Amino acid sequence: MPNETVAATHAFWLAGRQATGEETLDVTSPWDGRLVGKVAVPTEAQVEEAVAAAYAVRDEFAATPAHVRAAALDHVSRRLVERTEEIARLISAENGKPMKWARGEVGRAVSVFRFAAEESRRFNGGEAQRLDTDAGGTGRLALTRRFPRGVVLGIAPFNFPLNLCAHKIAPAIAVGAPIILKPAPATPLSGLLIGELLAETELPAGAWSVLPVGNDRMPTLVQDERLPVISFTGSDKVGFAIMDSVPRKHCTLELGGNGAAVVLADYASEKDLDWAATRIGTFANYQGGQSCISVQRVVADASLYERLVPKIVAAVEAQVTGDPSDDATDVGPLVSEDAAKRVEAWVDEAVRAGARLLSGGKRDGASYTPTVLADVPPDVTISCEEVFGPVVTLSRVEGEAAAFETVNDSKYGLQAGVFTHDVQAAFRAHRALEVGGVIIGDIPSYRADQMPYGGVKQSGVGREGVKYAMDDYTYERVMVFTGLAL
Ligand code: SIN
Repeated sequence: MPNETVAATHAFWLAGRQATGEETLDVTSPWDGRLVGKVAVPTEAQVEEAVAAAYAVRDEFAATPAHVRAAALDHVSRRLVERTEEIARLISAENGKPMKWARGEVGRAVSVFRFAAEESRRFNGGEAQRLDTDAGGTGRLALTRRFPRGVVLGIAPFNFPLNLCAHKIAPAIAVGAPIILKPAPATPLSGLLIGELLAETELPAGAWSVLPVGNDRMPTLVQDERLPVISFTGSDKVGFAIMDSVPRKHCTLELGGNGAAVVLADYASEKDLDWAATRIGTFANYQGGQSCISVQRVVADASLYERLVPKIVAAVEAQVTGDPSDDATDVGPLVSEDAAKRVEAWVDEAVRAGARLLSGGKRDGASYTPTVLADVPPDVTISCEEVFGPVVTLSRVEGEAAAFETVNDSKYGLQAGVFTHDVQAAFRAHRALEVGGVIIGDIPSYRADQMPYGGVKQSGVGREGVKYAMDDYTYERVMVFTGLAL
């Protein structure tokens, strides 16, 4: 069924109400270049109004009863369910994501808002600690509760235009922290849609704004002292530049990765290799590889490498490429032709340096065929950087220690997958791998939205995952009672 999303001008959300500015931004489909929608862009004065409103409401919002915040979050979750198909079409149209993945993204956002509602009901019950364990604390009791650090500036990327906005906004509402959300300029419609659902709730005006401002206007917001918390998802270059520009702010950075899938020697039956290859073939290419945890590297034990490689090539070639609005499509275009040209240049560089192209390697506009490379020299760009495209590289290693060293030989450290049945090997992997998450028996791309998610090294600082983001947006404040009969 063709994508039926029609071009329309979308207002943005300023302190909970719709507004239009003086200019608009065109949102086009990465698949066929058609206009998907026009988005009103806030003026400087409107941005200032949104920030001032968020700042002014911060105490009132922090004091809002948990049931009010939970009800709003539950409402958004329910409305996402009701409007799943329409929203999936919107994601697919603005991002180029195939419908099957777009539906999955809506389902995940449903969960994120539901988890946030649940967490908001149990968050901050307070923790009591008796202090009379030393003589000086006789009759004293400490009560610790968490309070918002202040207004959150959430900066979301294009690759999960709905769910990564949800990961910024839902935890903020759950803890009563106002938020200014900036969706990605290429894909602002999904973030604006969350605004539409929030506008149906009773949250105080000013508690949230969705402002589709251009990246060039971000430094002003980043520097604004009324916004002490920055939650950024995007490239390591931009993320660390933000953090370095405001070293005293509380920054959470969810940055890049070059996810590795390790296949250890014990994972060697036909069934095992079929499972590993199928998962690798799918998750090297989902969303055109435009996920920070897509499989970029396969690190396989030499004892099974020759049997695994043809299975991976077959699994990659089984991916159906084409029109993202078609239910049968697995892999659509990249976000832009420039993005596809960059991937093409990196693959070409690797091949010129001696890598073997086992499949793919062709570009058509913004689309790039799912690609498998073997024997890639360690110093070429694709071995060192995040490809963010449908390309997987294969390496053969001798034994577990070499496999773990190969995974760690990277400036990134987001997630790794380890295919093994050996529980001891799983624990060794958990200890050895310098990443934020180790997935046993599956690819690095597995993410449950309630679990801690984030990286080490150049992959980021801090953790998302609803409860973890709630911790991140708040700080502990202790109150000491004196003269109590404990
Ligand atoms: C990301 O690309 O960082 C997000 C991955 C996910 O949420 O699955």
